Amino acid sequence: MPSPGPAAFPIDAVRDRFPALRRASPFIYLDNAAGAQAPRIVLDAVAGHLLDFNVQRGGRYARSVEVDRVIDRARRQVATFLGADNPEEVAFGMNATSFMRLVSLAIGQTLTAPRDEIVVTDLDHHANISTWLDLARTGAEIRWWRMREDHRLHVEDLIPLLSERTRLVACTVVSHALGSRVDVAAVARAAHGVGAEVFLDCVHYSPHAPIDVKAWDCDYLVCSGYKAFAPHMGFLWGKFAALSALPTFREEFIPDAPPHKIEAGTFIFENVAGMAAAVDYLEALGADLDPAADTPRARVLAAMGGVEAYEQHLSRRMLSALAAAGATVYGVTNPNGVHLRVPTFTFNLPGVEPATVAQAMADAQIGIRDGHMYAPRLMDRLGLAMATGAARASLVHYNTSEEIDRFGETLRRLSA
Ligand SMILES: Cc1ncc(COP(=O)(O)O)c(C=O)c1O
Repeated sequence: MPSPGPAAFPIDAVRDRFPALRRASPFIYLDNAAGAQAPRIVLDAVAGHLLDFNVQRGGRYARSVEVDRVIDRARRQVATFLGADNPEEVAFGMNATSFMRLVSLAIGQTLTAPRDEIVVTDLDHHANISTWLDLARTGAEIRWWRMREDHRLHVEDLIPLLSERTRLVACTVVSHALGSRVDVAAVARAAHGVGAEVFLDCVHYSPHAPIDVKAWDCDYLVCSGYKAFAPHMGFLWGKFAALSALPTFREEFIPDAPPHKIEAGTFIFENVAGMAAAVDYLEALGADLDPAADTPRARVLAAMGGVEAYEQHLSRRMLSALAAAGATVYGVTNPNGVHLRVPTFTFNLPGVEPATVAQAMADAQIGIRDGHMYAPRLMDRLGLAMATGAARASLVHYNTSEEIDRFGETLRRLSA
């Protein structure tokens, strides 16, 4: 279905909600895959928490009781963001990588001889590969699901790798380097068909389109708040039964029940308050886009549906800017295929080092990134050296066509 035109998206009102954008002007943020900006409502929530409730949870005095209330509300807001029914399925922590390690260490303890295979992909961020590869030391067999020459993972290639020996499939929802989307609902159907579980890296996908853990029917999913308009923090969602069964490390007086069995030690409460406010921001955007959206989840869906449609326009414009400069783009390059990707573009200019491209952009007040994107397997597949890698420009819904035009002009000057 064609997406509505970019005029339908309230880009000026969106940008007004992000103070960092005006403050940095004329600097252009095109490194959002490494971390996005936060709206005013998030900044206020973090500052408000530090001003009024900067104490430990679990006390009897009002400020401490309030910290527990803030965390409970954040669980509800994140559950709304994910389409989950049970907020107790949401655990907070430092980042996505530490949750990947926590779950993989736990899964490692449950591997038994007939079900000892883990499937990983060569498209993923290395955080969601290396932690599973480490299980090979304790007896796991690793199976590789490889992307095709079109730079996409095809579920048809996963199916022959699955059997009654498969314990878990670990894969991304979208590539943080190439922007290619994965049909994760089909992954879960295939994996569950042989009795295996699915662990999804949703870090890069989360700012771009609706998440629906029930429709996807995944077992575990991890996100980083700082990629989704919140401060630095991470969260893990898992089916209640799956989390309940995980052997996690915890002090013996902590009940063996989610979410507390997953949350060892203290996490950063003010940033959790900020994550809840990031979902509030999305709800407000959803209410603007669809005044008929009358539940928190309906508003989040309206927001993320609008973001997804607007970003498809950004993707088409980026593809044309990159093509005009003669860039080699990795991932989906057909302008009619933008629904198969998010606006994250890894590319190279023939004869120009990626570092030179990123430096020229920096000199022109445009922030992009160069390097291996924490994806050594992917670099290898693309025939790129780890030391130099490629350049990456990554957009979110507060970026504009005009910013893409400035990026395109700088790129064309470089390639000339
Ligand atoms: C797709 C993906 N997975 C995992 C990570 C690691 O996330 P964190 O920094 O929260 O550990 C990143 C970070 O860039 C990422 O892009």
